[in-house]
Amino acid sequence: MTQASESPPDGAAADWTIPQGWDRYTAAEHALWDRLFARQADMLPGRVVPQFIAGLDMLRMTQPGIPRFDELNDRLNAATGWQVVAVPGLVPDDVFFDHLAHRRFPAGNFLRTPDQIDYLQEPDIFHDVFGHVPLLADPVFADYMQAYGEGGLRAAGLGAIERLARLYWYTVEFGLIRGNDGLRLYGAGIVSSFGESIFALDDPSPNRVGFDLRRVMRTRYKIDDYQQTYFVIDSFDDLLRQTAETDFAPIYAALAAEPDIGTDEVLPGDRMFTRGTQAWARARAGQS
Ligand code: PHE
Ligand code: CO
Repeated sequence: MTQASESPPDGAAADWTIPQGWDRYTAAEHALWDRLFARQADMLPGRVVPQFIAGLDMLRMTQPGIPRFDELNDRLNAATGWQVVAVPGLVPDDVFFDHLAHRRFPAGNFLRTPDQIDYLQEPDIFHDVFGHVPLLADPVFADYMQAYGEGGLRAAGLGAIERLARLYWYTVEFGLIRGNDGLRLYGAGIVSSFGESIFALDDPSPNRVGFDLRRVMRTRYKIDDYQQTYFVIDSFDDLLRQTAETDFAPIYAALAAEPDIGTDEVLPGDRMFTRGTQAWARARAGQS
């Protein structure tokens, strides 16, 4: 979400958008997309929130090959008024927020290489489009994402970007949701990762804690490993109510006096779904 430089790279528009350049994808890239897609599509039913599968179907993302943004946008725009725009990579916060506030989702137009199948640090088109776009076809989640963008523009003026970044991280990227028959995935960082789609739901290591806005805004996060704590929302309606319908300014002010919470910490007031063993994180720490 952040990049130091403030002016767009050569060839990009003032809002950092570029053409998708669909004709430039190679046959090998389309095949790699198909491989990534098949692996996730086989595994996610029963694990991901049903709205995600509905979005994949409605947007016809089940067709082979890297999606063409123009075709995707015809369907997405009809569903919720959102569109996907291509960008060269991470964009500055204010540019990102402004796109979201206008129902435009900025997506990297490049695909990872075959040796990055399981992990890469910068969001590529598979993460951005497979991970994020299906839920933009859901009306409630679509409203949440727009409100988030507006909230970001506001938070910038209140010096509270980091608070809001944590909310994005623990909902849009790594969120879990309660289903009728147990927990389900909805965060794009999880559902675009084979390993984390299993870890986040089934592994005994991480904590799974009921979503609490202030708690989330105080919690640090890891960008280079599976999360040590996941937060569980009750529903997209409830998430929208707790965020879009809540004035964050007094919350930011109150939180200024509160200490941060560590990535693995459990607090007395936490509504626990799972108290994690943290075995995964401990084993990782032992390796380094
Ligand atoms: N309601 C928040 C504010 O007052 C904005 C927001 C909405 C933030 C939705 C995140 C998600 O700033
Ligand atoms: Co993302």
